[in-house]
Amino acid sequence: MTDWKTYYKEHLSRPPSPLLVKALKFCKNKDLALDLGAGTLIESKFLLDSGFKKVVAVDSSPEVETFAKEINDKRLEVSIIQYKDLILLPDSYDLIIAQFALPFYGPTDFELFIGKLISSLKPDGVFAGQFFGNRDDWKVKGKNLAFQTIDEAKRLLKDLKVEVFSEKEAEGTVASGEAKHWHVFHFIAIK
Ligand SMILES: C[S@@+](CC[C@H](N)C(=O)[O-])C[C@H]1O[C@@H](n2cnc3c(N)ncnc32)[C@H](O)[C@@H]1O
Repeated sequence: MTDWKTYYKEHLSRPPSPLLVKALKFCKNKDLALDLGAGTLIESKFLLDSGFKKVVAVDSSPEVETFAKEINDKRLEVSIIQYKDLILLPDSYDLIIAQFALPFYGPTDFELFIGKLISSLKPDGVFAGQFFGNRDDWKVKGKNLAFQTIDEAKRLLKDLKVEVFSEKEAEGTVASGEAKHWHVFHFIAIK
C-alpha cells in the first residue's frame, strides 16, 4: 500500500482544485456529494463551504479521519474503505469529485467501476476528475494503476455530456520532489 504522508503534507494547505471550482458551476443541486480518494479533505471542505447538505468522503488511508476531526462538521461522513468496497446506489449523488483518485482503483474492472460511479449520479449530476494517460511515467510493470489512451478516456464518459476534457502532458515532479512525466486527462461531465 502507498504511504500518502508526503503527499498529504504537500497538499494540506493548497486551495481547492480549480477543476472542482469549475465543476461546481454546473451543479444544479447540492444535496449530496461524493469525494472519492478524498485525501486531506480540502475538496470535501470546499463542498461543505459551498452549501452541500452532505458530503461523503471515501479513502482507504486512516489519516483521513484526522483531517475530518479538524473539519468537525456533522455534514461530513468519512468512510475509510477501499474503492472496491464502496456501495454505489443508483441516482444518489449530485456531484462526484475524484481528484487524482480514479487511476488508483487499478486496471481490473476499471470500466465497470466508472460505470457504477456514473449510475450513482442523479440526473444532472456532475462528475469531475482525472484519468491517467497511457504515456504517464507510472505506467510501468508492477504499478497497479489504470491508464487510458485518449479514445479510451473519452469512451468512459460516452454516456455523459462532457463539458471539459483536457489532455495535459508535461515533465513535472511528484510530492517527494522526484521527476515524473505526467500524462493526465482532466474532465467535467454531466449526466
Ligand atoms: C493522489 S491522492 C489524492 C488525494 C486528494 N483527492 C487530492 O487531490 O489531494 C489519492 C488518494 O486516493 C486514496 N486511495 C488510493 N487508492 C485507493 C483505493 N483503492 N481505495 C480508496 N482510496 C484509495 C489514497 O489514500 C489517497 O488519499
